[in-house]
Amino acid sequence: MFTSLQSHSTHKTTLILRVSSLFFLLFSHIIYFSSYVRANIFVYAGCSQEKYEPNSPFEGNRNSFLASVVSSSSQAAYTSFAIGNDSSGPPEASIYGLYQCRGDLKTTDCSRCIESAVNQIGLVCPYTLGASLQLEGCYLRYEHIDFLGKPDTSLRYKKCSKSANNDVEFFRRRDDVLADLQTAIGFKVSSSGLVQGFAQCLGDLSSADCTPCLAEAVGKLKNLCGSAAAADVFLAQCYARYWASGYYDFSDSSHEDQVGKTVAIIVGVLAGLAILIVLLSICRRAMD
Ligand SMILES: *[C@@H]1O[C@H](CO)[C@@H](O)[C@H](O)[C@H]1NC(C)=O
Repeated sequence: MFTSLQSHSTHKTTLILRVSSLFFLLFSHIIYFSSYVRANIFVYAGCSQEKYEPNSPFEGNRNSFLASVVSSSSQAAYTSFAIGNDSSGPPEASIYGLYQCRGDLKTTDCSRCIESAVNQIGLVCPYTLGASLQLEGCYLRYEHIDFLGKPDTSLRYKKCSKSANNDVEFFRRRDDVLADLQTAIGFKVSSSGLVQGFAQCLGDLSSADCTPCLAEAVGKLKNLCGSAAAADVFLAQCYARYWASGYYDFSDSSHEDQVGKTVAIIVGVLAGLAILIVLLSICRRAMD
């Protein structure tokens, strides 16, 4: 009788410990995700058809590429890599790749975004020889063939919102923003009235290559998305996006971050209180 009671209460203690660690995890995740979720939102991915064999020399170079990307991202917003393209290894193992963070991200947010991209890219494109992944805050790409520094304005992704019906003022403002974005070298944010936008070229593009890439992106925004109130066009080496303020918001304002954190803390505290009440009632029942 005594033994069974004791094992019963041990069981309850374990349960309480389990439940509280579960909620602790949940709570810390809410805090973590609310601050970084925006930069880590998935935009698009592209995977090659060809695959590599597990444990192949290519996989080895791919792993060192991904590790280098993670360590570089705490130093620079853009870096390109060529691994295994000298005579020291088999030619089928060579890998070329790069990453680019959005121009307005702080280094720590760049690193976090890249870490997230590195963790996701193998899940999105399992065992492929080539893969690219665009998140809101960063871009990661690798290929078996050398694509570095070669001009490429092919369309990778577009998204057009619903139409801003006959709003002449909106279209005038949008055209102002798009004209301004075309002058970007690297990264540029622009706004006119309620219309906002930003554009970016990959870090290794000279202004002689960035300008025609953005001209192509802006042309596609107008041709493919016509009268959209918000639109994104991503080409292989640059992108341009615009939106009517309040339509959707990629903007990285610290005010919003504060609001997000405050909400997360309130939710966390409420969840904590609820757990405490549940735990107390379990304890009370355990003591009865
Ligand atoms: C490897 O590729 C990079 C990038 O294209 C190039 O700069 C470098 O010269 C290549 N290395 C060799 C040994 O071919």
